Amino acid sequence: MKELCYSYSEQIKSKLGDFAPEIAVILGSGLGDIANNIQNPTVISYADINNFPQSTVSGHQGRFIAGILQGKKVLCMQGRVHLYEGHTPQIISQIIKTFKLLGIKKLIVTNAAGSLNPKIAAGSLMLITDHINFSFNNPLIGANDDNLGPRFPDLSNAYDKKLRQLAVTTAKEAGIELKQGVYLMVSGPNFETAAEVRAFGILGTDAVGMSTVPEVITAAYCGIKVLGFSVITNLGTGLQEQSQSHGETLAMAEKASQNLGQLINLIIERL
Ligand code: HPA
Repeated sequence: MKELCYSYSEQIKSKLGDFAPEIAVILGSGLGDIANNIQNPTVISYADINNFPQSTVSGHQGRFIAGILQGKKVLCMQGRVHLYEGHTPQIISQIIKTFKLLGIKKLIVTNAAGSLNPKIAAGSLMLITDHINFSFNNPLIGANDDNLGPRFPDLSNAYDKKLRQLAVTTAKEAGIELKQGVYLMVSGPNFETAAEVRAFGILGTDAVGMSTVPEVITAAYCGIKVLGFSVITNLGTGLQEQSQSHGETLAMAEKASQNLGQLINLIIERL
């Protein structure tokens, strides 16, 4: 049986007509406003694509916005789907495989995350340099379609080095402070225990969150170049006095998203 990405891409193509996006952007918790600058937008709700996974979390609108950003053709996901909603990693990977079938060459992923690094405070922007897959799952398990990618993909440049260099230079020129670090994914939905946060620190984690890794693994598999950003909404459990909450995540992400939106605009202009 053909994977769902073939049907998703046909449905999206029929809605976009001759508009062929080159860059995809996935906007995480509280970061959806970044899509509001897109010109000549075509909006496609996930609900209008047959069998497409639905986003059920507050702060995730659940729609594609296709259009022009800084003169470039983009397809933006305003809201993503997560493992903790009950979606399989394989269905998340279908979205990225759909991007590949649409001809997308570059992907910008964003998320909200908790910091484990004392040098990366709440409110910071962090460029993701690499990840640790601690979700105990993998989006590529199952039969392999060789048209989409290889059985044993290489992840040595999963967060593309040249794109990272571009992000660092662009941020510097714009006077936007950009930290760098390793992102670790847990499945969620609970926030971590303090002992887990200490353990992840020993593993070399700078920020922890509940998304992004399935998308990035699949993008590397498909040959799509990735640039990833975390908005640091809090310090990890045990590193800050207050307890964790999704409300705090959303409020902080919305605050920090202005800087991230500006940076993404400037980067897209240079892509
Ligand atoms: N842990 C996991 N996911 C998160 C966090 C966190 O501290 N903050 C925002 N998303």
